[in-house]
Amino acid sequence: MEKLAILGGPKTINYSFKQYNPIGKEECLAVDEVMKTGVLSQYLGVWDRDFFGGPKVQEFETVAQKYFGVKHAVVVNSCTSGLIAAIGAIGIEPGDEVIVSPWTMTATATAILMWNAIPVFADIDREFFNIDPVSIEKNITPHTKAIIAIDIYGHSADMDSILEIANKHNLKVISDCAQAPSAKYKDKFAGTISDIGVFSLNYHKHIHTGEGGIIVTNDDNNAERLQLIRNHAEAVVESKGVSNLSNMLGFNFRMGEIEAAIGIEQFKKLGKITDHMTALGEQLTIGLKSLESLNPPKVKENCTHVYYAYPLILDTEQLGIKRDVIHQALVAEGVPIGQGYTNIHLLPLYQEKIAYGNDGFPWSSDVYKGNVKYNKGICPVAEKLHEKEIMAIPTCMHDWGKEDINIIIKAFTKVWSQLDALRAYDDAGNE
Ligand SMILES: Cc1ncc(COP(=O)(O)O)c(C=O)c1O
Repeated sequence: MEKLAILGGPKTINYSFKQYNPIGKEECLAVDEVMKTGVLSQYLGVWDRDFFGGPKVQEFETVAQKYFGVKHAVVVNSCTSGLIAAIGAIGIEPGDEVIVSPWTMTATATAILMWNAIPVFADIDREFFNIDPVSIEKNITPHTKAIIAIDIYGHSADMDSILEIANKHNLKVISDCAQAPSAKYKDKFAGTISDIGVFSLNYHKHIHTGEGGIIVTNDDNNAERLQLIRNHAEAVVESKGVSNLSNMLGFNFRMGEIEAAIGIEQFKKLGKITDHMTALGEQLTIGLKSLESLNPPKVKENCTHVYYAYPLILDTEQLGIKRDVIHQALVAEGVPIGQGYTNIHLLPLYQEKIAYGNDGFPWSSDVYKGNVKYNKGICPVAEKLHEKEIMAIPTCMHDWGKEDINIIIKAFTKVWSQLDALRAYDDAGNE
């Protein structure tokens, strides 16, 4: 048996994986066409024909709208912009509470703060890493106005339960589907059954436009408000005849024509890309599921997982080896693997409650009547996962085929075949 690489043996994976790149000649040609027109953006921040953007932006919206089977798609320059626009569009007011999970990228929660509203962190469930409906219910107060469900890693949150809670308490639901384009929740696409769904088109996602985002909704009023917030609402409302002025402070969240042209081509590849990612995830699960105390991600019945990343939970107590030691051993074998999300509620922003200025605004403001807590312990599942249990393979960052996955499985199997040696390494105080 070959010695583990962490103990001085040979590395299992001796080559560099190719970087993931979904951009091909179709995108190059599409960009070239736009460049020849010289019109790289065709927006005007006034109520005019150009309020809705140029031809490529509008064509891209039609492509996305048809693909997702929704009434409206509004494209923006990032998912972060999309989330900010979504919070504003659903009418969140200063001091309102919005429930979100801490197991996400920071922008999901800061989008709430951008409107001077208050993020309240509910815990995640240990099976799917998505916001736990039981924890949502526990965190509802008279100030709660909305829930953001994140389809983390590419698998939908428990939307049936979340929508039921939202109906019962009259709350809006936004889905952050940055990592789950084309994932299915039952017979629908992720993001399409909430009030608003938001997708990311940044460089690291399944499909991308460099930077970019797509917002989807079936509600005409939401769509109009999203379009206004995207494009300088305050300068447009009067001539457009919009009477609800709340949150009609606009931004420049506009996508350019080049990005839209790339996006149109990327959408033609989306289904194939996510099918490939799903197949790689399934191959990993088949190869890893028999390894002791290692839990591959689950997939709910009637749902699909598009494996933006591939999370693994280690039962470290059963295993008797620290996660960090296992992680190091895998990295030494050449496996590209990370340690999962930071818990957002533990960031200085929330611990110090310093967002705008230095006096604790918006938490300290008179408009906020609640008493949110961000102390360690409020999200025990997410906290324990982060501290000692989770690892994640960034599937969407590599151009992997079956053979690459086989060698990754081989590296895991090698590490697992010598757990006693790793236990001794761990017991000797190595980390
Ligand atoms: C879950 C989640 N939400 C939001 C974002 C923000 O996306 P963008 O970079 O397009 O603003 C990301 C980006 O990684 C994400 O993963």
